Amino acid sequence: MDPSSYQAREIYRLTNYFFITAAAILLIVCVLTILFLFKYRERPGYKEQGGPANSKMAEAAIVGVPLVLVLVFFVLTVQAMRNIEQPTAGRTPDIIVTGHQWWWQAAYPQVQVTAANEIHLPVGRKLLIQLNSADVIHDWWVPQLGNKMDLVPGRNNFIWLTVDKPGIYEGACSEFCGQQHAWMRIKVFADPPDEYALWLKGQQAQPMATPASAEGAHLFQQLTCGKCHRIAGITNGSAGPDLTHLASRTTLLAGMLPNESNSLKQWLTHPKKIKPGAYMPDFHLDTTSINILTEYLKQLQ
Ligand code: CUA
Repeated sequence: MDPSSYQAREIYRLTNYFFITAAAILLIVCVLTILFLFKYRERPGYKEQGGPANSKMAEAAIVGVPLVLVLVFFVLTVQAMRNIEQPTAGRTPDIIVTGHQWWWQAAYPQVQVTAANEIHLPVGRKLLIQLNSADVIHDWWVPQLGNKMDLVPGRNNFIWLTVDKPGIYEGACSEFCGQQHAWMRIKVFADPPDEYALWLKGQQAQPMATPASAEGAHLFQQLTCGKCHRIAGITNGSAGPDLTHLASRTTLLAGMLPNESNSLKQWLTHPKKIKPGAYMPDFHLDTTSINILTEYLKQLQ
């Protein structure tokens, strides 16, 4: 109930119309029920009257008022839908969000950037977001930003999104998609244009190669992590989240853990215990390897 995008505001307005009308009807029904309980209660000397006269007016009202209400709400709903769902033909999407079991990929096709789970976007711009799935049906829902939309395998779905207040907006996958459905959180960062440009610049850059990171990068490749994970300039996997700028994110595992050394270490030690069912294999790594990998991943700003 705290809309922060044009689309959410449209839905909020419609919801309010429905809510106010429904509340008014409830009030009228309650008041009349109480009134009639008193007026027509059985009491000494009270004689039941015959049925009501056949009133054409009453019948017309009983049929007419609901009909008018339904018609009015039909028009309001179609209006809101037209405002939210505009044609997408001929537009390149600004962000392509792909649902995976159990994380989100965010690709920015116009600028060749790929991120995961935390989705940055500029405030005040009307964005077209394409939604796809890599496996089963997922569902995009960030309540403050507007409507839900399913991610269906083999199909391109779209939402328009014009966020009008900078902030961090939490959402979650809203279609049961398997064991870790509950930990498929969405975090949308709606940045002011200059902050967004800065973020984009950071994402386009290659992570810094320090001498200390060489050992980690080597181990990363040796352990075949790169078969699933991409790190720009090093590996090119796409089955798991892109790790090129992992350290620039605030959370790990689709919002499950804060992005800290400890979380990384726990995850690398026993992924199946932390996220049962996840596709990350347990490599049974020794502590030294875990430390090297953690240090390396922390440098991927
Ligand atoms: Cu993805 Cu539920």
